[in-house]
Amino acid sequence: YLAGRTLILLSNREPYEHVRSEDASAEDGIALRRPPGGLVSALDPTMQRTRGTWVAWGSGSADRETAGEDGRLMVPPECPSYTLRRVWLDDADVEGYYLGFANSALWPLCHLLLQHYETRAEHWARYHAVNARFADAVAEEVARAPGDAVVWIQDYHFAAAPAMVRERLAATGQKAFIHQFWHIPFPPPDILRLLPTEAQQGVLRGMLGNDLLEFHTERYAMNFMDCVAALVPDVQMRREHRRIHFEGREVHVGAFPISIDVARYEGLARRAEAARRAEQLRVRYGANGATLGVSVDRIDYTKGIPERLRALDQLFEEAPEMRECLTFLVVATPSRSELASYKALEDEVLASVAAINARWSTPEWTPIVLFHENIGAEELAAIYRAGDLCLVSSLQDGMNLVAKEFVACNVDEQGVLVLSRLTGAAEEIEGAVLINPFNVDGVVAGLREAIAMPQAQRRARMRAMRARLRRATIFDWLASILARVDELAPPAAEPL
Ligand code: UDP
Ligand code: G6P
Repeated sequence: YLAGRTLILLSNREPYEHVRSEDASAEDGIALRRPPGGLVSALDPTMQRTRGTWVAWGSGSADRETAGEDGRLMVPPECPSYTLRRVWLDDADVEGYYLGFANSALWPLCHLLLQHYETRAEHWARYHAVNARFADAVAEEVARAPGDAVVWIQDYHFAAAPAMVRERLAATGQKAFIHQFWHIPFPPPDILRLLPTEAQQGVLRGMLGNDLLEFHTERYAMNFMDCVAALVPDVQMRREHRRIHFEGREVHVGAFPISIDVARYEGLARRAEAARRAEQLRVRYGANGATLGVSVDRIDYTKGIPERLRALDQLFEEAPEMRECLTFLVVATPSRSELASYKALEDEVLASVAAINARWSTPEWTPIVLFHENIGAEELAAIYRAGDLCLVSSLQDGMNLVAKEFVACNVDEQGVLVLSRLTGAAEEIEGAVLINPFNVDGVVAGLREAIAMPQAQRRARMRAMRARLRRATIFDWLASILARVDELAPPAAEPL
């Protein structure tokens, strides 16, 4: 794929962040941090394969001194294989573009959680201005590329950018295929209508600047087409061909469910070190044959963490036999803490864990063990391996990679996945116990079903899920997208 063309990827979050640190292991007082989140987890392995340039916000406190003057550096540091080009934002940019329009308007609307939606004219104005600045950086990178380029824009931080990149390239006579992957759900028109007209038109017309738009599921792709049909005048579309005719061009739309580097996670879980650590967790927290539950999320209101804790509390209340027989390891990583709604959620999660533990703990047993930090993939693999069950309770989630990581790491094939129906993953994975997190009684019933599931059934389900996951890895996802790019814009020449 790509056939000699250079891939220029644009995302808000960078894959490698340098931060000032007092940690003794930090060289020159600077530590490398891998930000959590599905986008970075999914795209770093794909960039390591395709090379090219990744343009992103330089968000780390020591990012400037670790990059060259032009903001560029080679990553990953231990095995440099592609260029990271950092773009600098000031506090007002972060406030209006990232915390404001992206995370207080688009994020809650796309996840249908309207109680968190907030709109301010200056947020949209700043989002628009920052999108323009990133579009400039992308156009510069296209100009640097030795041959033709393929520009790949990521996610809801850059709804306006595709049309801007197109304009800039047209002005300088450069050519590139422009496409975008939308990592979160896309809402139906009744929800997008809640944006002020200027922002709503800016989002849809900006996205129509792409040659190809990729969503996780057909449903999100159809929602996008419905929004365009309802809200953008003068477009024609062939719904059955997933094609929109806009300003004399064709915009293609498709479903490409994202995945994980299955072999990497499986390999991490199979390491002797992971087996030892999993055993240590089991002995420490799952002694006397207690079931060990796990969950892993950024602390985000889309993840249904309070709902999950409520279900656990109710389970211990309703079923005294579960007390001392079920321990939950809850990985809850701080995220977007500058936003009041996220900070309040973090406080709520800490308080409910403390309350549940105060209510049910015994001298030998603590029901919930909280890891309130960002945990690296090696340790996560051991936690997943230790789990008898993994509970994903998102109120709404584009895909949810944690569900796939648990399946990949469950090398002993004993685990049960309890998965929210309201995730993209639930439309793909067959063999999970499906729950609706809004219905706490149903979550309790799902947990009881998972705990009681006979071993043969657990194994059969997990085997089927693992076999299917191995056939749909992150590299299959990348290949299917690049194949579509090649089909829509055949490379001019064979690579040398
Ligand atoms: N993650 C991590 N460390 C943590 C918590 C999460 O590396 O402490 C990773 C997790 O392994 C997964 C990603 O963050 O790869 C979360 O992706 P998901 O699609 O589940 O949710 P998102 O955070 O993208 O909404
Ligand atoms: C989701 C979004 C990503 C984002 C990640 C972490 O996965 O789709 O674009 O990077 O959450 O959130 P953050 O705001 O820390 O980048």
